[in-house]
Parts: sequence; structure tokens; C-alpha cells
Amino acid sequence: MAITGPALRHLDSHRSIHQGAYAEARDITDVMNRLFYDNRMEDCLKAANALVEYWETRVIAHADTEDEGFYKELLEKKPELTKEIHMFSRDHDLFRKIVADIKEEISEEEKVTKNMVNQFNALLIIKKHHNKGEEENLFTE
Ligand SMILES: [Fe+2]
Ligand SMILES: [Fe+2]
Repeated sequence: MAITGPALRHLDSHRSIHQGAYAEARDITDVMNRLFYDNRMEDCLKAANALVEYWETRVIAHADTEDEGFYKELLEKKPELTKEIHMFSRDHDLFRKIVADIKEEISEEEKVTKNMVNQFNALLIIKKHHNKGEEENLFTE
């Protein structure tokens, strides 16, 4: 479910949305990594599917809400942030593209591969920098 409205406009509430989403994505990724290296491939696939769903319903939904509302409002109010906002939108595109690639590979392979594990871990790294970037750049008065 996307969180809309005033929660995104304030640093404290926006940051707590980021922290909650990051912690949960990291926890599911940790579980999936462990299952992969323990060679528990059936459970690993379940964790990977849960993780795809998590990225789609929490992180990408948050990104969609930002692109469609929060960023547009900010661009009108603070056109000097145009470059930063385009960079953050590009991060959102990367989330969408990487998750779509993982989904495609899951449907082709019907098991988790090392490539998928790498991509899930890359998503977390991008998300960490993305969150920090938004928090440090978009809330100055
Ligand atoms: Fe974002
Ligand atoms: Fe955000």
C-alpha cells in the first residue's frame, strides 16, 4: 500500500518510512541469502517471491507516489532541485528495472540463481544511498 500525502513532506515521517521499508527488505534478503547458501532451494524460491512482492508493494509503491506527487510538488516549489530530483527518479527506474529482471528470471528458471541473489543485494545498496540522498537533499528550507 502506498503511503501518500503529508507523511512524505516531512523529514521525520519520510525517514521513518524509509527506515521501516529498508529494515524489512534487508531482513527478507538476509533470509533469502542464507537459504541460498544452505542450498535450501525450495524455501529460497519462496523467500525470493516474497521479496519481489515486498519491493513492488512497499518500495516501488513509495517511489511511484514520490514520482507522481511529492517530486512534482517539490519541482514547482524548488526548481533548483531539478537535477537531484531527476537523479532520484533514475534510482526509482533502476528499482523497477532490476525487480522486473528478477521476476523474469524467476519465471524462466523457477529457482533462485546467483545472479538473482546479486541483484537483490544490489537493490539494497542502491536503496540505502537513495534514502540518504533524499533525506539530505530534499528537506532543506
Ligand atoms: Fe525515493
Ligand atoms: Fe522516499
